[in-house]
Amino acid sequence: MAENLIIAEGGKEQKYELLHKQIAALVNGESDTIANMANVAAMIHATFGFWWTGFYRVVGEELVLGPFQGPLACSRIRYGRGVCGTAWKEQVTQVVPDVELFPGHIACSSLSRSEIVVPVWSDEEIVAVLDIDSEHLATFDQVDKLWLEKIVALLYK
Ligand code: SME
Repeated sequence: MAENLIIAEGGKEQKYELLHKQIAALVNGESDTIANMANVAAMIHATFGFWWTGFYRVVGEELVLGPFQGPLACSRIRYGRGVCGTAWKEQVTQVVPDVELFPGHIACSSLSRSEIVVPVWSDEEIVAVLDIDSEHLATFDQVDKLWLEKIVALLYK
């Protein structure tokens, strides 16, 4: 895969479409999941300029911080806690337009205003979550949900 990330002109659909293609090419050429998570976080982060983009991995009863881009974050999140732990427990993507209105939200950074958390599946099991934070309200919608679900589906193919 090319070493350089190309960011599409236009709206976020166009950006996601090209990003998805580049991530598909990247993961086809690399079998190590942590290496892929690291580059996927970097590619999403650079394309959209989010506040924080990264993975938490399921380790026993907890989510443990994985590859990410952005400021220092909480290392461990318990099952069912916060937006990440809720995505794991409920087994569906959480789109949170205002984190202050989400009961039990874990504020790793007081600057985070909205968030999306996407479960990462391997076979029938959730093995990680992709967490993205924005410093603006209502950054994420169904377009982000659709494309980010397609992107994380590339990780364990
Ligand atoms: N806000 C998340 C915690 C992780 S940090 O935002 C990076 C949550 O409520 O699960």
